[in-house]
Amino acid sequence: FAEKKLKGVKVVVTAGGTKEAIDPVRFIGNRSSGKMGFAMAKIARDLGAEVTLITTVAAPFGGMNIIQIQTADEMMKQLKDVFPTTDVLIMAAAVADFKPVHVADQKIKKNDDEDIFTIKLTKNPDILQTIAATKSKDQFVVGFAAETQNLLENAEKKLAKKNADVILANNVAQVDAGFNVDTNKITLLQKGHQPLVWPLMSKEDVAKKFWKFYLSK
Ligand code: C5P
Repeated sequence: FAEKKLKGVKVVVTAGGTKEAIDPVRFIGNRSSGKMGFAMAKIARDLGAEVTLITTVAAPFGGMNIIQIQTADEMMKQLKDVFPTTDVLIMAAAVADFKPVHVADQKIKKNDDEDIFTIKLTKNPDILQTIAATKSKDQFVVGFAAETQNLLENAEKKLAKKNADVILANNVAQVDAGFNVDTNKITLLQKGHQPLVWPLMSKEDVAKKFWKFYLSK
């Protein structure tokens, strides 16, 4: 890693779970820690890339352009700005599938007469699919697929549907892979190639292995 093999390469990484606002103090979120995206961003930085990290979780490091956002809509807006000049996009963020239809201006009060409170949700845009649809042949887009069943089948579908160059798939039903842990077990899928099954390793090592793969293509 002493050699700056990614010098001049513009890398954008998204990390963390989106926080979809309900009112000024509440949101709908998920358990993503941001660790996989952080590792991807850090290793790219160490290899000399110009890195932009778009994250919902505060990053405990620097040496890159860090853009803190909360919602999927905010993530989309930032990506639309930066993607045209991006060489490699890594979509490691856990984007919420749905967001509240209305965001209350004021903190929602509980009502003594009502034991049930309903929040109506509407679908978030698929950021990866929207952004990758605009990709040129020189741009490289990586998505993640966190699955609990039919890992390969579901990840293959995502590769095609989302127009990604690579999908890094992991089975989040395994205790040592996926959300909120320091390790991950990845299967790498790319069009026209057999899947690469990587052993269980730290997220930093996954990131090193990914960038090594990228540089060897
Ligand atoms: O469809 P699924 O959520 O399993 O796809 C996961 C991949 O798609 C991840 O790379 C994630 O960042 C991205 N995604 C997205 N926008 C969404 C949902 C997922 O970009 N609304």
